[in-house]
Amino acid sequence: MPLVGTKEMFKKAYDGGYAIGAFNVNNMEIVQGITEAAAELKSPIILQASAGARKYAKNAYLVHLVEAALDVCDIPIALHLDHGADFETCKSCVDGGFTSVMIDGSKYPFKENIELTKRVVDYAHEHNVVVEAELGQLAGIEDDVKVKANEAHYTQPDEVEEFVKSTGVDSLAIAIGTSHGAFKFKPEQCTRNADGILVPPELRFDILEEVEKRLPDFPIVLHGASSVIQKYVKIINDNGGALKDAVGIPEDQLRKAAKSAVCKINIDSDLRLAMTAGIRETMAAQPDVFDPRKYIGPGRAYIHELVAHKIKYVLGSDNKADEVMELINANK
Ligand code: G3H
Ligand code: 13P
Ligand code: ZN
Repeated sequence: MPLVGTKEMFKKAYDGGYAIGAFNVNNMEIVQGITEAAAELKSPIILQASAGARKYAKNAYLVHLVEAALDVCDIPIALHLDHGADFETCKSCVDGGFTSVMIDGSKYPFKENIELTKRVVDYAHEHNVVVEAELGQLAGIEDDVKVKANEAHYTQPDEVEEFVKSTGVDSLAIAIGTSHGAFKFKPEQCTRNADGILVPPELRFDILEEVEKRLPDFPIVLHGASSVIQKYVKIINDNGGALKDAVGIPEDQLRKAAKSAVCKINIDSDLRLAMTAGIRETMAAQPDVFDPRKYIGPGRAYIHELVAHKIKYVLGSDNKADEVMELINANK
């Protein structure tokens, strides 16, 4: 099965009240852990590569790794550029085999974001590639862009219609309180539950609802949506790691978002935590091991476990591969 775009995935996800997981990939074991779990659960997925991933692994390796996954998995997979910083990066991914690109103009003033996004949309659509853009700024680290927590700007709902109409973009990432990384909130922003676990403030569902009203039937994207699963944080910390007060977005809030206009949920930090947990646990328990397969393999197994959990209990995309494929075939 060839790589697919995201149009049909988002249509089905919107109508069916679920979301597609967009998982960041950087090497073979990450691709395998994600796609094996998705194939087992018959879930459509998006594999996405950041500028950092393309620099680390090289574009050709990433594209061929994802194509290799398609040879062994019978599910719809889209390959997406995460946080494209400029037109040239997006063009190189459109030309290089990606089926979806993000142009992240969120750091620019509104009009400049529109101009840049429209330029990418015009080029990508000529080549049958879909485009995601972003309005509003997430707190935390966005690839090369650093936004301090107190400078986070929520998306302004009264800007979204003009933005989507003037750019022709296919999906829109919005800022409603999520942020990148494993430390999404400071402890002082949170309360603690009975087990001492940090509980962060609620996402701004009021903004999401406003956006939804203004953009009916339009797919919304959530970045910075890892839940920072405490099981993996604990394994890391119990085996020599030092991730104090790591906190993410609670799963019930992500599930609520997935039932709304949110059709794409981005997950990277959770994958990093799962991989690191597997490696640290193995290395601590077996200090004599020096065969990389013996410690990266357990990392891959935790990624598999994590992605299966997300698909079933957070995204709700299990058993949706067939309906997406049917729509893709009907639209051909
Ligand atoms: O949004 C950022 C992603 O987690 C990618 O991070 O630039 O370190 O690959 P990266
Ligand atoms: P997390 O850091 O929450 O996994 O977010 C990843 C992301 O948004 C990639 O674009
Ligand atoms: Zn992101």
